[in-house]
Formats: sequence, C-alpha cells, structure tokens
Amino acid sequence: MKMSDFNKISRKRFIKTLSWLLLIPFGWLFNSIMTKEAERNKTRRQILLPEEIPNGITIMEPVIIVKKESEVKCFSARCPHLGCLINHLEKEEIVCPCHGSRFSSDGKVINGPSVKHLNELEIIKNKAGRLVVYDV
Ligand code: FES
Repeated sequence: MKMSDFNKISRKRFIKTLSWLLLIPFGWLFNSIMTKEAERNKTRRQILLPEEIPNGITIMEPVIIVKKESEVKCFSARCPHLGCLINHLEKEEIVCPCHGSRFSSDGKVINGPSVKHLNELEIIKNKAGRLVVYDV
C-alpha cells in the first residue's frame, strides 16, 4: 500500500477499522476480569442455604442467616474481631463466644471488642434455583 493509497481511505472506513481495533483491548480486559472471577469462585466454598428458612436468626456454621418476613440476609459466622466462629445467640443478639462481641440481627456491632460489623454475604440463586452464598 502506497502512502497515496492511505490518504484515500474514507473517514467511514477509518472509523470502522478503529472501532474494531479498540475492541481488542476491551475484549482482553473483559476476558481477564471474567477469568479472575471464575478462579475466585473455584477457591471459595459454596454454601447451600436451606429451602425453608425459619423466621429469626439461624446459625448454620459457617454462616448466620437472618430472616425477617420476606427479607433474608446472610452473614459470615467468622467474628470480625479475631475470627472465632460465632455459634451463640442470646435473646435477639448474636454473641461471639471468644471475647463477647455482640451483634444485632442486622449484623451491626452492639458491643466490642469488635469494631467491625459482621461480614454480609451476597445471596444468589444457583442453576437449580437454590439460594447459595460463597464463604470468603
Ligand atoms: S473473636 Fe469474637 S470477640 Fe474476639
């Protein structure tokens, strides 16, 4: 291709070619993100939630499920203070057995030593229509 031929490329063709060339880095970026997400999901443990979730707080190690009417939330049972497994309820409070941190049913700290709230886990539906969470 001579330089004079290059000048003959129409603006429309130039923009079309440029658009295709711009797709390459976006495609690479998208593929890179999806691959990392898939690898992350492989290393995380999938936890199947029960089909019938009772109202109130249910401790099902390694997660804590809270159902209020139709709203369901799920928290990691790992205490955000030093990582003990929380397996104790007192009235409507979630209590860590190690150092006594207390959390409300929405995962908020009521009493320390923990200064962080419980880690809320995203609830998703799997292919079979069951609710699952991924342990972090
Ligand atoms: S590990 Fe839970 S309060 Fe310290």
